[in-house]
Amino acid sequence: MFLVTGATGSLGRRVVRQLREEETPVRAYVRLFSDYKELEHRGADIFIGDLRRDKDIEKAGEGVQYIISAHGSGGDTEALDYRANIELIDWAKKNGVKHFVYTSVLGVDRGYEDAPVFKAKWEVEKYLQASGLNYTILRPSGFANNLLPLAERFRETGIYLLIGDPQNRSSIVSTDDLAKIAIDSVKVEGAKNKIFPVGGPEMLTREDIPQIFGRVFNQEPLIINPPLFVFDGLRAGLGLFNPQAQKSFGTLRTLLANEFFCTPDEIANLEAVYNMKMESLEGFLRRYLG
Ligand SMILES: NC(=O)c1ccc[n+]([C@@H]2O[C@H](COP(=O)([O-])OP(=O)(O)OC[C@H]3O[C@@H](n4cnc5c(N)ncnc54)[C@H](OP(=O)(O)O)[C@@H]3O)[C@@H](O)[C@H]2O)c1
Repeated sequence: MFLVTGATGSLGRRVVRQLREEETPVRAYVRLFSDYKELEHRGADIFIGDLRRDKDIEKAGEGVQYIISAHGSGGDTEALDYRANIELIDWAKKNGVKHFVYTSVLGVDRGYEDAPVFKAKWEVEKYLQASGLNYTILRPSGFANNLLPLAERFRETGIYLLIGDPQNRSSIVSTDDLAKIAIDSVKVEGAKNKIFPVGGPEMLTREDIPQIFGRVFNQEPLIINPPLFVFDGLRAGLGLFNPQAQKSFGTLRTLLANEFFCTPDEIANLEAVYNMKMESLEGFLRRYLG
């Protein structure tokens, strides 16, 4: 039995779908008010709880051999990105879980001080490695599904908002490929106790993305490109009213200001270990949007 946290999220939902397609038993950790009907219909065992509560984590883990941690935090980084994962790891260790798959983030090891999520994930990575559990740590780049709403808006308006340096590179990853990698991590020998950067097959500059949208929808893009200092100004203004929100925007600032790409060697290694070909962003968008 797998336990998937964040089962209603972009990644978790895809993990549960793929597990159920192969009829593997899976417990989906969900919150009462989120949309879990689809997961229930697919035959997932629904566990309703809140990852901020240790008691819920204990109950959710009964009978579990594999854990895929795929939850996000919605801003409560300390409780969810950090503490909930530490509790899950402790529980897994105490209860003989066979393998723990952790969703980290590309660039987690660069010491970004202004990015609470990166800091939390870095500490969780270290804790997991020292736990004695079998683990796989996945460090994905940005998920392709994040671009679906932007692509829909582009289809209607032809406009693409690009904040920051258009030459910054990233390796947007197909969220479906990432879900497959998370599942296969518990089966593939070469994935045991390893850390993998996970990205799509190509290194894209930010300005490649509207060009891809343009090809998918056969429409010339109109790119609006405010510099990063506009974002910084808005963030500083927000800080006057809500210092906490200003702090959590640090993670977004880090994502906007830096490059997050995998090298060709890293992708070749990933494809060899997991015996798969990574999907391009254009392939992903065409599959979802036609
Ligand atoms: N998105 C990216 O581009 C990206 C890139 C690199 C790494 N990652 C990492 O990959 C993981 C998955 O990301 P995602 O984009 O799939 O996340 P997401 O779509 O934002 O989903 C977050 C999930 O966490 C759940 N959750 C939030 N608070 C919870 C709580 N208190 N108790 C139980 N569940 C809770 C949410 O449940 P509700 O439905 O109830 O809100 C949802 O299922 C995250 O760890 C993220 O940091 C994401």
